[in-house]
Amino acid sequence: MITRREASAGLFSAAVLAGTSAKAASEATVMQLPAPKTSGGMPLMQALKLRHSTREYAERPLPLPVLSDLLWAAFGVNRPSGDRTVPYWRHIMVIDVYAAMADGVWLYDPKAHLLRKHLDADIRAATGQQDFVGAAPLNLVYVAHGERMHDVPPEDRRLYASVDAGFIGQNVYLFCASEGLASVFRAAIDYKKLAEAMQLEGEQFVTFAQTVGYPRS
Ligand SMILES: Cc1cc2nc3c(=O)[nH]c(=O)nc-3n(C[C@H](O)[C@H](O)[C@H](O)COP(=O)(O)O)c2cc1C
Repeated sequence: MITRREASAGLFSAAVLAGTSAKAASEATVMQLPAPKTSGGMPLMQALKLRHSTREYAERPLPLPVLSDLLWAAFGVNRPSGDRTVPYWRHIMVIDVYAAMADGVWLYDPKAHLLRKHLDADIRAATGQQDFVGAAPLNLVYVAHGERMHDVPPEDRRLYASVDAGFIGQNVYLFCASEGLASVFRAAIDYKKLAEAMQLEGEQFVTFAQTVGYPRS
């Protein structure tokens, strides 16, 4: 984790090492995030009043400190126990939060509070069936590990994973309301196409996606 001052000064490192495959990229590249600002923001009741979905976005990217705070609000560690800003099913961590941006797909590591490169490709357009997803700066994709729900019938896995993702989605909505950002939680997804684009493995599956950016004014 780096300080917010270093982040603002552009001193963070995205250590892009040579790698020819998606897997190599995933192992080699890390985006350090500044320490999240875990105080302040808008009063909760005011954020609830402003929460809404937006489907028109500016292309402007999110500054790194804002991305850091957003990911922490979404799914960050908020206690020494390692538990999160959201509740989760049976104390089993089923969901991974991926960030699809212009420079590739990143996996959020909440414990280290950093992003790990998963893919070099810009797959934003594949994260949904609506036009704005390809140009908005960030599409979060909530991916479940089906194999971690091994004693749950397959038909119930999507239910529990979806509830976990829904809590994350609401945290993102409220953070966006507080920060003047725009967001929409989404299910209009070609799930097969997105799973292929993300190179998901084993019993991983996409639950929902959520676009975040600045509103187009
Ligand atoms: C499970 C779920 C799936 C959704 N899928 C989409 C979607 O694919 N595309 C979209 O534009 N909005 C989607 N939404 C957002 C809803 O359309 C939106 O929340 C609803 O119309 C109420 O509007 P509001 O969020 O502005 O209050 C989804 C919301 C939920 C909870």
